[in-house]
Amino acid sequence: MRTGTPSPQKPARNLMKPLLQNLQGHATARPPVWLMRQAGRYLPEYRALRAKAKNFIAFCLDPELATEVTLQPVRRFGMDAAILFADILLVPHALGQSVAFVENEGPKLDPIRNAAALAQLSDARFAETLSPVMQTIKRVRAALPDTVALIGFAGAPWTVATYMIEGEGGTDYERTRAMAWSEPALFSAVIDRITAATISYLMAQIEAGAEALQLFDSWAGAVPAPLFDTAVIEPTKRIVSALKAKHPAIPIIGFPRAAGSHVARYAALTGVDAVGIDHMTDLTAAVMPDGIAVQGNLDPVLLLHGGAAMEREVRGLVAAMAGKPFVFNLGHGVMQPTPPEHVARLVALVKGAA
Ligand code: CP3
Repeated sequence: MRTGTPSPQKPARNLMKPLLQNLQGHATARPPVWLMRQAGRYLPEYRALRAKAKNFIAFCLDPELATEVTLQPVRRFGMDAAILFADILLVPHALGQSVAFVENEGPKLDPIRNAAALAQLSDARFAETLSPVMQTIKRVRAALPDTVALIGFAGAPWTVATYMIEGEGGTDYERTRAMAWSEPALFSAVIDRITAATISYLMAQIEAGAEALQLFDSWAGAVPAPLFDTAVIEPTKRIVSALKAKHPAIPIIGFPRAAGSHVARYAALTGVDAVGIDHMTDLTAAVMPDGIAVQGNLDPVLLLHGGAAMEREVRGLVAAMAGKPFVFNLGHGVMQPTPPEHVARLVALVKGAA
């Protein structure tokens, strides 16, 4: 060591975590890898635990089961990040809206389509209902290796609003779009309600130990272009600035799925540290403002099928993004019939071990 240099400090915790380094704008020798929906029904060990809970919400709100399920893909595959096991619909549930997950049909909610229904929502039990999630975060943090980061998350207001207004998934969001166009005051009130709840939920996740956050705007691609700012950019910006005001060092990943031509403005205006890119968009050509990382974007179908096409695309993406702040992920979640061996192969490829 040269004289005069300070004695080596213990590296800041995040220097050991490649996910956090990339989200802070610093490329690492190889990109970190995690997958949206990395915990779930494609894993036999998930299905075994899922069978122990009486329903999906109870499963998410059981800290013991949720901790175990969060850790399963980290243990099995050596992911660089764990994502909290929960669901974006816990927010409407905690506001008192009726939410049920019906086997093979997806979520069903008591829809909110007028001011009276909106007024029924309540904060009274919000924090208490979600406190098991904070217990899960504490347990996961205590169990994770030093190199693995814990990502907390919530749905972005537009995407959560589509479920709250439609009462189900799998629609063309016709009612949500109709409300946004023809009852703008009511629509804004719904978005504002979700925005405020999301800020307090994510604040609590950070305080419990989440080291990065992702905002899932899975249905951003359904927003009519003239409404994109009010439905997506503005509420996202409000969430990001509220969180940054208190916790400036916690990186936030925004995932405006299928937002196409809006992605550059989203990256420039919302204040997020990283943007998740879907598989319909050329991630290698995405021009981000200085220091903003990108995450994505392998087609989940390539992971489902595996083989030579997957190998070629994974290697190509890693090579194209070398030297840039980048987080390897899919363009959307892991599909249910995906063989776990394909996930193992993917992680080995990204880590350069294959
Ligand atoms: O990524 C992870 O591994 C963390 C866990 C996670 C889940 N949902 C678990 C889950 C995350 C981050 C989510 C987010 C979520 N939930 C989104 C945004 C991401 C995306 O996929 O676009 C959305 C739209 C939802 C709403 C949701 N939850 C739907 C529409 C469904 C039913 C359809 C389906 O895939 O089953 C869920 C249920 C759900 N959320 C499951 C899991 C593992 C399956 C439930 C079960 O085991 O029965």
